[in-house]
Amino acid sequence: MKEIQIGMMGLGTVGSGVLKMIQDNEDKISNITGCRLHVKTIVVHNTSKHRNVSLNDTYLTSNFDELLNDPDIPIVVEVMGGIHPTNERISALLKKGKHVVTANKDLIATNGPALSQLASRHGCDLMYEASVAGGIPILRTIANSFPADKIVEVKGIVNGTTNYILTKMSQDGVSYAAALKKAQDLGFAETDPTNDVAGFDAAYKMIILSQFSFGTRLTIDDLHIEGIQNISREDIQQAAAFGYTIKLVGISRLVGDKVFADVAPVLVPNGTPLATVNNERNAVMVTGQAVGDVLFYGPGAGGLPTANSVLSDIISVTKNLVLHTTGHLFNNYQQEFKSAAPEDVAYRYYLSLTMRDVPGEMMRLAKVFADIGAGFLQIVQTSATAKQARLAVVTHKMNQRQLAQLKAALDQNSNNSISLLAAYKVLPN
Ligand code: HSE
Repeated sequence: MKEIQIGMMGLGTVGSGVLKMIQDNEDKISNITGCRLHVKTIVVHNTSKHRNVSLNDTYLTSNFDELLNDPDIPIVVEVMGGIHPTNERISALLKKGKHVVTANKDLIATNGPALSQLASRHGCDLMYEASVAGGIPILRTIANSFPADKIVEVKGIVNGTTNYILTKMSQDGVSYAAALKKAQDLGFAETDPTNDVAGFDAAYKMIILSQFSFGTRLTIDDLHIEGIQNISREDIQQAAAFGYTIKLVGISRLVGDKVFADVAPVLVPNGTPLATVNNERNAVMVTGQAVGDVLFYGPGAGGLPTANSVLSDIISVTKNLVLHTTGHLFNNYQQEFKSAAPEDVAYRYYLSLTMRDVPGEMMRLAKVFADIGAGFLQIVQTSATAKQARLAVVTHKMNQRQLAQLKAALDQNSNNSISLLAAYKVLPN
């Protein structure tokens, strides 16, 4: 049987998972592909650091050139992460005619289109299923199973760390700081958690999901990004009283022939599928014009789940090698990106405010709403000190221009003590 030699860069949790899955599932893989897969060489930073990994006859080296210049290795798996020198190494491998499988969302979100073009010019495959929502097979599914349906929206909980923190805040009533500490103790959150909690990790995933769903190349500047750092226990409790769960949701949707994309905390109605996605789990909902809503749920990270997605890419490349069909883009849907106008994007909003607890103050707030043509759907005064009231409001649908006007009007009003603490979209039932 033909043996395909695999090279790898990085041997952390995902890399060890890839090695283990290839060793454990050898028979099934060869039954399906007609080839045996063998990890020949792994490039790591420090070769003495990986004594607990079962390597068998796999060769460890810290010299990338040994992998780059090995003509026996047609497929290289990149699980080392980071942008530099990863980008340069992947480019060098593609120029040498090697097929690349990567789990690197930051790199694909920022430089994916250029790397894909480079791969295509050199007749190579570049696949990155594991870059979005770890173990959920979402990218190949969108590319292969929705090619004829018009996707109108892709949205989801695509960051496990923030979902874990919000679940703890909501179920155990703890503060953001306490939930973050627990996530760090359990190894979900990094020591510097900014990339996750500020929403950047989710935004990179939404860039890639938008490419597959709408063919558009968004950059990080095309998305409004808001993280979870300012979500308070009071808002989580008040949202629950209104019948919602607060989640960090990435949304990318068509508005006519334009795209609206953002990552922000939103109120998800209890009883709808995204509200039930808890702890570090992820879920992506794809809405097609023909098929309607389709939900994909599973682990968004972790060694073996992510390794399963990497293996699905390796096996796709292997099949392409056997059939001599390499060199096609992983996603070949391409459309010009046009950003949706703020007045065309409307949602209901949950607002949390403080104001003086004195007669006439509510009338002033109502006037701000009336001036921009916004209306109240629900309104509750949640607590009051001697002089301060806390107000929770769900508005009727407002467009993004009205929301900006509302924020500006309340900002100017701050001397008079109506302050806006939070403004979160409310998803429909
Ligand atoms: N840090 C990510 C998360 C996993 O918490 O979901 C890798 O993308």
